[in-house]
Amino acid sequence: MASSQELAAKVLMEFEETEKPLKEVFQKVCKKHGIRDYQIMASIYHYAFETVKNIIAIDFLLERTLKGDVTLKKLPPIVRNILRIAVFELKFERNSSPLVTDLAVKVVKRNVSRRAANFVNAVLHQIDKTDLNNLVKNTNWVKRLSILTSHPEWFVRKLENIMGREETEKFLRANNEIRVTWLRVNTLKISVEKAIRKLEKENIIVEEDKDFPEVLKIIKAEKPVVTSSLHKRNEVFIQDKGSVAVVHALTPEPGDIILDACAAPGMKTTLIAQHMENKGKIIAVDISPRRIQLLKKMVKSAGVKIAYPILGDSAKLKIKNISKILIDAPCSSSGVLQSNPDIKVTLTPKRVKRLSLFQKIILQNMLEVLEESGILIYATCSVLPEEGEGQIDAFFNKVKLETPKILGTKGYSNFKCATFVKRLFPHIHDTSGFFISKMLKN
Ligand SMILES: C[S@@+](CC[C@H](N)C(=O)[O-])C[C@H]1O[C@@H](n2cnc3c(N)ncnc32)[C@H](O)[C@@H]1O
Repeated sequence: MASSQELAAKVLMEFEETEKPLKEVFQKVCKKHGIRDYQIMASIYHYAFETVKNIIAIDFLLERTLKGDVTLKKLPPIVRNILRIAVFELKFERNSSPLVTDLAVKVVKRNVSRRAANFVNAVLHQIDKTDLNNLVKNTNWVKRLSILTSHPEWFVRKLENIMGREETEKFLRANNEIRVTWLRVNTLKISVEKAIRKLEKENIIVEEDKDFPEVLKIIKAEKPVVTSSLHKRNEVFIQDKGSVAVVHALTPEPGDIILDACAAPGMKTTLIAQHMENKGKIIAVDISPRRIQLLKKMVKSAGVKIAYPILGDSAKLKIKNISKILIDAPCSSSGVLQSNPDIKVTLTPKRVKRLSLFQKIILQNMLEVLEESGILIYATCSVLPEEGEGQIDAFFNKVKLETPKILGTKGYSNFKCATFVKRLFPHIHDTSGFFISKMLKN
């Protein structure tokens, strides 16, 4: 059978070719190769995700080592990606095996040729002797941080201008660290106390969160939480604390009529229903037919009885009598790089610009839909101001802003709305990066 490294290289090849989310291509490759064993899957996942997390540094080391007119791009995909994984192991893995190079050589010999294998052997021996910190010590701050933390240069430069060097470095470094896993107890199915006891019985040790009563922090787990009976029964969900904070900002109450404008796959819809104790109505809109199916499934399995899924466009939707709206807007996801490192590769200024235009038209229309003195929460899992403060400032004189009563720091200081909005960061709050704002219609 192929090694985890070889299968991880196949995941990276598929990712390069399709640019589809890494989690999706990982599932596809495992399915294609008939991998169902959790330990093997975890190992493939580890190599693929950790390599992508460090991809800019890895490619920099490789490009510096290749000679003549050989470039990384010109190499056969299997060679390029086996090299990447081996460099990850040599340079970033804590206890890497002494057989890293031998294994990579073997895979290339079997898949390509003896000559290619000799080439891989030479490149890896050279990189093993190279000190990355030394190589970048004379480059400018932006480029150095871009390489050392593997984030695109334009992104590092932008954050430097917004939050300064110290915060930028802390944020970028946090993206590469192991994140806290948060659980949200589905109180429609189980009490928090009972969930804690049941998790403990399955050797998953948790701690209650100080900010939100339904949130638990995983302290120790002997097996993946997704394999626990509670997760299988939808009694607990893996949900970032920042995502929970968005729902708390909305203050859903039993009997409310709420419009969840970008609802799929339904993580927040189901939490809203929980806060409403399954009393009232949630109109859950999403533009994606595939994702609305996921929402329907999630709503049903979570025991939610008050959600009405609608396939629709919130930039155009006309509907009356809505006093609370949640816009969990489509965004660059630049706040979730800890859990989705592949976004580092696909994130571009052009994409951010396109998404901020969508956000603007959804926000514009939803403010029209909202009843007089109604509440609108606009949130994104982005750290970029175009998808946060910039959107709110455009409506600064047209709505009343109210600071959401949740944890978080204030917004970026050179925006009018800064003191009225909240930001969450992995290096400060142990959450994904979130922007959360609350508007009242005059
Ligand atoms: C950040 S995700 C929402 C996540 C969801 N609220 C949750 O907690 O599970 C953004 C969603 O917006 C949807 N979307 C994008 N443009 C939209 C539009 N014009 N109208 C409605 N939904 C839209 C996407 O399909 C995507 O599912």
